[in-house]
Amino acid sequence: TPVLNVALLGGGTVGSQVARILTEDSELLTERIGARLNLAGVFVRNTAAQRDYQLPSLLYTTDAEELISRADIVIELMGGIDPARELILAAINRGAAVVTGNKALLATHGTELFTAAADQGVQLSFEASVCGAIPILRPLRDSLSGDRVTRVMGIANGTTNYILDQMDTTGISFGDALAEAQRLGYAEADPTADIAGHDAAAKVAILASLAFQAPFTLDQVDCQGITTITAEDNEAAAAAGFVIKLLAIAERVSTNGDDGVVLRVHPTLLPREHPLAAVRGAYNAVFVEAENAGELMFYGAGAGGEATASAVMGDVVSIAKRLQHGGPGRPHTPKTSLDALEIGHTTTSY
Ligand code: HSE
Repeated sequence: TPVLNVALLGGGTVGSQVARILTEDSELLTERIGARLNLAGVFVRNTAAQRDYQLPSLLYTTDAEELISRADIVIELMGGIDPARELILAAINRGAAVVTGNKALLATHGTELFTAAADQGVQLSFEASVCGAIPILRPLRDSLSGDRVTRVMGIANGTTNYILDQMDTTGISFGDALAEAQRLGYAEADPTADIAGHDAAAKVAILASLAFQAPFTLDQVDCQGITTITAEDNEAAAAAGFVIKLLAIAERVSTNGDDGVVLRVHPTLLPREHPLAAVRGAYNAVFVEAENAGELMFYGAGAGGEATASAVMGDVVSIAKRLQHGGPGRPHTPKTSLDALEIGHTTTSY
């Protein structure tokens, strides 16, 4: 059986679950791909730290460059901009395919990374970067590519939805709800990114780039988090028949004949009977409105190690099949997942 070497960068909540799936489901994956995925090593900062899924200690390394040099597929799940950006570029330049769940990186340096991948003719996949397990990026990029999307609106951050839901239903304090979200593995390493809305903002920039076929970045998102929401706000909303949700919205607007797309994240009062009001706990949902398709809704687990690892593995299997059946090392057609962004022109206005 042919072997494809996989380098994992990051041994945290999601990284550990990817390591578990690669180990425990190895036979099933080999059967599906026609090649064996060999976990060549895991890049971590501290090789002695206890992991959610513990691998033999010799697989942990602090030498990312060396690990990448042995890989056919590099999975980046360390988060943050540096050194994730440099390591992904190093992988691309060595001709390795890359799978990442790093929304902050894609929403700030996406164009640079996709250009590098296109130049090298390698794949860069990122389904796990937005809304955990929910398959939302492929439908936006592929299934709706013959339609005209008018609006994308969603609950795109599990931590804040969990906090707001707990405050609303149990009356628990903001701080206690956040601590529980961290314990359950929903929150980012620094939960400020969640509660200040930056995580949802990065995701809406990525969603908009695919939905509107033009590159959008984090700094184009008008962003407000949930840090100022109090128990009194929740009570007042409930008494009036509403629920408070943090919504991420990207919509096409037309001002004086100029088409633009507006991106924003903010707490919103939703009527209790609105479908998005029913999204509880760390679940996410994304509404898409398109001219011909009408209204679509995507719903599922938006955070958590196992759920997000499912999306990572979908990308890994799809790349591995392509490497296995499309010739040695590289896919036949040098295409990147965001190559549609080269076409079309959209102005952004606020
Ligand atoms: N911290 C993120 C969330 C994880 O709570 O949604 C998934 O991207």
